[in-house]
Amino acid sequence: MKRSASRSPVPAQPRAPRPVPSFRPAARSHWIRAGDSGIHGRGVYAQVPIPDGTRVIEYVGEKITKAEAERREAQRLIAEREGRDACVTIFILNQRHDLDGRSPRNTARFINHSCAPNCRADTIRGRIWIVARRDIAEGEELTFDYGYGFKHWARHPCRCGASRCAGYIVGAAQRWRLRRKLRGQRRAKL
Ligand SMILES: C[S@@+](CC[C@H](N)C(=O)[O-])C[C@H]1O[C@@H](n2cnc3c(N)ncnc32)[C@H](O)[C@@H]1O
Ligand SMILES: [Zn+2]
Repeated sequence: MKRSASRSPVPAQPRAPRPVPSFRPAARSHWIRAGDSGIHGRGVYAQVPIPDGTRVIEYVGEKITKAEAERREAQRLIAEREGRDACVTIFILNQRHDLDGRSPRNTARFINHSCAPNCRADTIRGRIWIVARRDIAEGEELTFDYGYGFKHWARHPCRCGASRCAGYIVGAAQRWRLRRKLRGQRRAKL
């Protein structure tokens, strides 16, 4: 809300309730910095040692409906097919809403996925936090499990480099299905 330019005293008025912003202000964190990543594009690195359990940064973004999220995902797929920049930035927030973190104000959007991540994404009272799931050394790249479902596994090859990398970005809980699928494909080729 803009402040009035006038300095003349005005009688106190009851304040109108502030609109709830659909976009939270920029999240800042002294724990991290963004930089080029060996996994993909830009990544996020610890600039100091980060203890286990630290809320490192909030994943901020625009709160959107599921229908809008689907529309944006369809646009993203078109961009991907055309070879344009097509990062997934939409997070499931709850049953009705998602959060699109594509804004430059959201440094957490640079955090890449790993099959052996050092962070997790926790939804706490309607806000998404990136939390350290172990002690993280200075200079380590921060990662979390994107938790993608199995359905579109082939769309998301994984380059996390972990020794137990599943090969595709699929959430840990669904990875057994991916492994079964890949085993089946290997057998069919023999
Ligand atoms: C929110 S962005 C993460 C930041 C991204 N590196 C960048 O430069 O903007 C998510 C996208 O990064 C890429 N990505 C993240 N983790 C990856 C991984 N382990 N392997 C391959 N690509 C990954 C995928 O293209 C994904 O859609
Ligand atoms: Zn991986």
